[in-house]
Amino acid sequence: MRNVANPFKPTAGGEPPLLIGRRKVIRDFEKGLDNGVGAPGRIMLITGARGTGKTVILTVLGDKARARKWDVIEETASEGLCERLVNELRDRDGLLDRLTIKPSLSFAGASVSLGEAELSPKRMPETLRKAMAERITLLEKHHAGLLISIDETQAADRSDMIAIATAIQHQIRERRNIAIVFAGLPQMVSDLFNDEVITFLRRAKMNVLTGIPVDEVRDAFRTTFHDSGMHIDERQLQTAAAATCGYPYMIQLVGYHIWDAADMRNSDEIFDDDVSQGITEARIDLDNAVCIPELHGLSRNDRAYLKAMAQSDGPSSTTAVAKRMGKTPNYAATYRKRLLDAYVIRETERGEVDFAVPFLREYLRRHDDE
Ligand SMILES: Nc1ncnc2c1ncn2[C@@H]1O[C@H](COP(=O)(O)OP(=O)(O)OP(=O)(O)O)[C@@H](O)[C@H]1O
Ligand SMILES: [Mg+2]
Repeated sequence: MRNVANPFKPTAGGEPPLLIGRRKVIRDFEKGLDNGVGAPGRIMLITGARGTGKTVILTVLGDKARARKWDVIEETASEGLCERLVNELRDRDGLLDRLTIKPSLSFAGASVSLGEAELSPKRMPETLRKAMAERITLLEKHHAGLLISIDETQAADRSDMIAIATAIQHQIRERRNIAIVFAGLPQMVSDLFNDEVITFLRRAKMNVLTGIPVDEVRDAFRTTFHDSGMHIDERQLQTAAAATCGYPYMIQLVGYHIWDAADMRNSDEIFDDDVSQGITEARIDLDNAVCIPELHGLSRNDRAYLKAMAQSDGPSSTTAVAKRMGKTPNYAATYRKRLLDAYVIRETERGEVDFAVPFLREYLRRHDDE
């Protein structure tokens, strides 16, 4: 029998039916927890372009920590990050709920509200450090550790990052049971983690979420379709997997729309038309959810730079882009920097530039007249 619900999850942060190709990050993290204080996986950095699965990985790592009875605080960087962290660290009722432990004497008393001064930027590093230490002391009585995860780290204020780095460094020096994972767009590494004041975080274990090999996508499609009661053949699986280019968000879109096309016919068998129609729908969604927003707000010259890049099938050197634009390398360098800062392009290891998100190249080629 065919499932009623579509198993694919093409939404931001939506947990996919099968988490493909991320075994190593998860294992490194689990080893970090299991190997005790000082293990490398206890400070982790996860980067990747939009839609590569950073938020999903944070959820999974949170689950792994919870399964070990750790307390987990999940935050997203934006103004007031440290203040929110302090409040959560001090929320003892929340802690009781999370750990499902009965109140004991050590938990008696309401949370103390903080004065303005303690939350001032100047005092924040100390306030956060104390709040962390107090929380960990409570947790250690129950043999539990503390995991803090921060999503969208590229949007964090430098002062917040300094406070967090200082506080964590202290806990680690004092051999407390703590782990922290930061996730964000690749630029965060150069912006925040190369900052002199935050050098401590350079020791973090770095994980870049890259594309997933197409054969792993195909295998996952096979399992997911079959498990949901849909019949799909090997050739169709291969076509569907190839259309994703291994881009996680596209994997969910393609799966979702193919499944949906068969579902619309009330069928438990995938036809070739469902595959082609599904891929077309997935591309439309990807354009709307990723390509158009990525290009939105860019100037005509930014676009000209991207179009010059799109002339090549792979990464381009800055000189080549300038030449294609008919401009000086200096002129092109300005736009290169702007686009890197906007996370639309990325620098390859060889110093060339490539699109941060696959499919942007194809999108620009298709819309060459705009
Ligand atoms: N390993 C994976 N295997 C299959 N699908 C995945 C995987 N990781 C993420 N996805 C899917 O990709 C989509 C994007 O995931 P997610 O929102 O976590 O990405 P992100 O990197 O946080 O994106 P953004 O930078 O926009 O916040 C979701 O639909 C999710 O289900
Ligand atoms: Mg995200």
